[in-house]
Amino acid sequence: MRYLVTAALPYANGPLHIGHIAGCYLPADIFVRYQRLIGRDVKFICGSDEHGVPITLRARKESSTPQQVVDTYHAMMGKAFSDFGISFDIYHRTSDALHHETAADFFKTLYKKGVFTEEESEQYYDEEAQLFLADRYITGTCPKCGNPGAYGDQCEKCGTSLSPKELLNPTSQLSGKPPVLRKTKHWYLPLDTMQQDWLQEWLLSKEDSWKKNVFGQCKSWLDQGLQPRAVTRDLDWGVPVPLPDNQGKVLYVWFDAPIGYISATKALTPHWEQYWKSPDTKLVHFIGKDNIVFHCIIFPAMLKAHGDYILPDQVPANEFLNLEGDKISTSRNWAVWLHEYLADFPGKQDVLRYALCASAPETKDNDFTWKDFQDRNNNELVAILGNFVNRTLVLCEKYYAGKAPNRGELLDAESVCLQAVSEAPRLVRESIEKYRFREALSHVMDLARAGNKYLADTEPWKHQKTNPAYVETVLSVALEVTATLAYLCEPFLPHSAEKLRSMLNIPARSWEEAFAHTCIESGHILGTAALLFEKIEDESIQYQITKLHNTKAALNTEETTALAHKPQKPSTTYETFSAMDLRVATIIAAEKVEKADKLLKLTLDTGIDTRTVVSGIALHFNPEDIIGKQVTLLANLEPRKIRGIESNGMILMAEDADGKLVFVQPSRNTTPGSTIN
Ligand code: MF3
Ligand code: ZN
Repeated sequence: MRYLVTAALPYANGPLHIGHIAGCYLPADIFVRYQRLIGRDVKFICGSDEHGVPITLRARKESSTPQQVVDTYHAMMGKAFSDFGISFDIYHRTSDALHHETAADFFKTLYKKGVFTEEESEQYYDEEAQLFLADRYITGTCPKCGNPGAYGDQCEKCGTSLSPKELLNPTSQLSGKPPVLRKTKHWYLPLDTMQQDWLQEWLLSKEDSWKKNVFGQCKSWLDQGLQPRAVTRDLDWGVPVPLPDNQGKVLYVWFDAPIGYISATKALTPHWEQYWKSPDTKLVHFIGKDNIVFHCIIFPAMLKAHGDYILPDQVPANEFLNLEGDKISTSRNWAVWLHEYLADFPGKQDVLRYALCASAPETKDNDFTWKDFQDRNNNELVAILGNFVNRTLVLCEKYYAGKAPNRGELLDAESVCLQAVSEAPRLVRESIEKYRFREALSHVMDLARAGNKYLADTEPWKHQKTNPAYVETVLSVALEVTATLAYLCEPFLPHSAEKLRSMLNIPARSWEEAFAHTCIESGHILGTAALLFEKIEDESIQYQITKLHNTKAALNTEETTALAHKPQKPSTTYETFSAMDLRVATIIAAEKVEKADKLLKLTLDTGIDTRTVVSGIALHFNPEDIIGKQVTLLANLEPRKIRGIESNGMILMAEDADGKLVFVQPSRNTTPGSTIN
């Protein structure tokens, strides 16, 4: 059996932060390091995702070119990964020629097989910039949760995947204006027919083997019924559509990026086909939860349509890591950046690896706090692991000048401790095989705890005078625990594992070599003891917290000034204004819309009828408080389905600089239906 392990290709549009590591790269690295230790044939694949709209937008913002943007961040991300010991076999990139060629060939194969459907449809177009507006070139209000900053492909607030036409009040990111609709032709992957043909059956067969959160998302996509997906875009950055008359179109980034896993494997080894085309290979995709649909549905659909490739065996997606109670966000600078962490805590990569693994968002979203980070370091790494190792090695130096002592008769305490030594590798192994990395790490720490307890119970420092032979036995057992810890730590804390091995003067060993027999024989010459971890003081933690809060304060002023000074819109005509049917209406019923925090379903008496309007004001008003209130209604706004409810019109709100909303009302109650001119 062979493993091909991939970790999501990160967008090369910003530096890496702790959320990336916790969600995807650290669990993947632990898994791969473990596979290597047990001697499995494994390849670990990653690279930069260098296409897509976020990159072109960033280039515009920084007045540079997309290529410059990806060059900068590709280098930066590659360095951060290697600094943190994320041990890819290759870190490739999708702007590479080999990738362009591989992705283009893949598209051509599907095209020739007649897999795609071709469709002309209306898409948003920015007349001023003369460009079609794909994905993130459009923002607007999320129809599901009312978030006003949702993107054309996704709402980051509620996580829903969107298409540009679902957004309310769409706005072009280029000109800041509402876009117009224009016809254009694209190629589609017919997921609807694939669902019937095989995809549904295949996905449903994963119910017991895939994580609950992963299977659950797939199931809900299936239940909604899969739709054909466009695999091309009107953009000038990406892999050109490999057809003679491509009209400047490129492959959709989510079509080319996962093919990046294949190109990277090609760049890594001439035997890449063994990994991608043999049923003996298990393909495992490590990703964050926002990537589930692409790795569990769309990419498998592409692979199957191509015909030569295996499908993923596992997709162990994690949930999200939050930071100090808030969602991590690159654009809002709410993050702990890896390069900044390393500058502030040099040499402490493993401390972050430890803290992130110990509170990894494996089954639900989790929160990273600096206080928790400090506690993990001081109370666990220093007080448990470091302390145990240090006591053992210092005593061996003191009593035996650094030479491993003899093991004599074993009493109960010794047997109990050695029992823990022999069980730990199996426990760690079982947890890792089940993709439960937090649990695996806790088994490692439990062994260190057992070691501490053993020393505390036997108190060798008290018996050296009276019973030196027994002390030799105790320290020989303690050394065995230490060496076992050194080997078990390797997947989780590779830098510390290496340090520990050199303190013990033992070589790197495979899992089998390490645990088949005693690690340290009597007479073995140990290395020199040094501190494995050191305490992190309150000041360093306070500094980090202050840094974050300064970011937030700066952000808030930025936002309020932006709001306070919202510039006047371009002039409009009287005709445009008078085309709007504005009138007074009275709220006669109001209720929350299920599973949408921000939406209220209002029933209005408009004087001419009774109608339903869905409004994104639920965070500002309780439904029961607004019944009987009069509001201004834009009555002739075209009807729109929001969360399955038809909304007929829009009520007007005034928004102050803090984002507080109030109704726009007549100065005293008047007859519903009164027009506003
Ligand atoms: N760049 C995407 C993200 O950061 C992940 C791409 S994964 C791949 O969300 F499969 F497409 F490569
Ligand atoms: Zn939303």
